[in-house]
Amino acid sequence: MNKKTILIIIFITSTALAGILPTQIYWVGTAFKFKEEQFDNSVRMALKSVINQFLQNKTDTVFQKKLIALSCRKQKLSIDDYIDNLILDSIVKNELKCMEINTVYRYGIYSKYNNRFVLGDYKDVERELLDTHYQFSLASIYKPGDYYLSILFTNKTHILLHRMELWVFLSILFLLILIISFIFVIFTILHQKKISEIKTDFINNMTHEFKTPIATSSLAAEMIQKEEVMANRNKLMKYSSIILDENNRLQSQVEQVLQVAILESGKHQYKIRRLNTNEIIKDVVNSFELRIKEENIKLELQLDATNPFFMGDKAHILNIYYNLIDNAIKYSPNNPTIFVYTYNVGGNIVISFKDNGIGISKEYQNNVFKNLFRVPTGNIHEVRGFGLGLYYVKTIVDQFGGRIELVSELGDGSNFKLFFPTNQTKN
Ligand SMILES: Nc1ncnc2c1ncn2[C@@H]1O[C@H](COP(=O)(O)OP(=O)(O)OP(=O)(O)O)[C@@H](O)[C@H]1O
Ligand SMILES: [Mg+2]
Repeated sequence: MNKKTILIIIFITSTALAGILPTQIYWVGTAFKFKEEQFDNSVRMALKSVINQFLQNKTDTVFQKKLIALSCRKQKLSIDDYIDNLILDSIVKNELKCMEINTVYRYGIYSKYNNRFVLGDYKDVERELLDTHYQFSLASIYKPGDYYLSILFTNKTHILLHRMELWVFLSILFLLILIISFIFVIFTILHQKKISEIKTDFINNMTHEFKTPIATSSLAAEMIQKEEVMANRNKLMKYSSIILDENNRLQSQVEQVLQVAILESGKHQYKIRRLNTNEIIKDVVNSFELRIKEENIKLELQLDATNPFFMGDKAHILNIYYNLIDNAIKYSPNNPTIFVYTYNVGGNIVISFKDNGIGISKEYQNNVFKNLFRVPTGNIHEVRGFGLGLYYVKTIVDQFGGRIELVSELGDGSNFKLFFPTNQTKN
């Protein structure tokens, strides 16, 4: 997939996601309004029923007798002769409960004539009760009119949101799932693209690396076939050793690639033994003897570890030391001076590989341990390599319970420190 296609996909999906968001908000808003209407209807029905009950009471003969008796004593009957505060309270409560409105409310009967509340539970909320749109005339119960029953729900929005909880929750949940999966898919695509680029680089690099020794050895073989070379023992020796050297190089390159492939497959069996680091380091350094002489490299050893033992697979541990010294030489173009130290720190043996080479900038210090990663140097790679070495080192170090630390500045050398726990050692 090329960059343009990826960008188009990102654009289309982002637009769709951006479109879903307002649509979803609109639907939740509509659902909220619907719930509000439902709530208003329930309140209306509840209060209508309250008023109806007082109306029925008015036609009750016992009640009428009571009114007649009262009207003999009083000049004019008042609203509280028709509506008893305690009864009103219990009827309102009961009717709201019947309509499944189980929430905090305040209510009162307001007299327009006197401009004040006369009955109910209205203290401190008179203003709000006057503004509420739940107002019901009591003209049918008490004439002259001008009496209103008002009810107020202080946390109405909260109740409605609570009723819609599931929908709001599901909307947010699905939207989040969509956004997260979108981000995940984009990251995966970009990551895969990067991996595919790295793999292409690796294949190009490998072809180039293999081509050189193959070309050199076939040239040497061609030379051997010549009469004059065949007759000359020295020349014969020279060309055959070129073929052997190039073959060895090819072999070690193939081995390196295979080794990482085997590690990646996770099928590798380690032969774990108690290893003496100081001895192994000496062996590895010996294998560099020829190169040290030929390339005028200074390699200093300071093996101070008093407990040089830890548990590991000798062949792999040898390889990782080899890789680190190889890198120290490869990436130190001017008079390579390499120090290898071993010492003990807090239950660990530390093996430090320090060079005076080109160093690694902070930006790439974590990446150098990734598979196939090479610090970018434009299109030209003056130093050959596959970008496998440090990945292999890190995998093996992790495998044997160790850790790796890199101290480096661009242009100021590098120091790779390996820490292995010595306390696993069986003495
Ligand atoms: N001692 C060092 N000094 C400076 N840069 C280094 C050093 N060691 C490694 N690097 C950088 O880290 C990169 C990764 O190193 P690594 O050993 O994994 O790969 P390589 O040396 O390029 O190839 P390979 O080891 O597979 O032949 C190198 O390409 C180089 O840019
Ligand atoms: Mg390397």
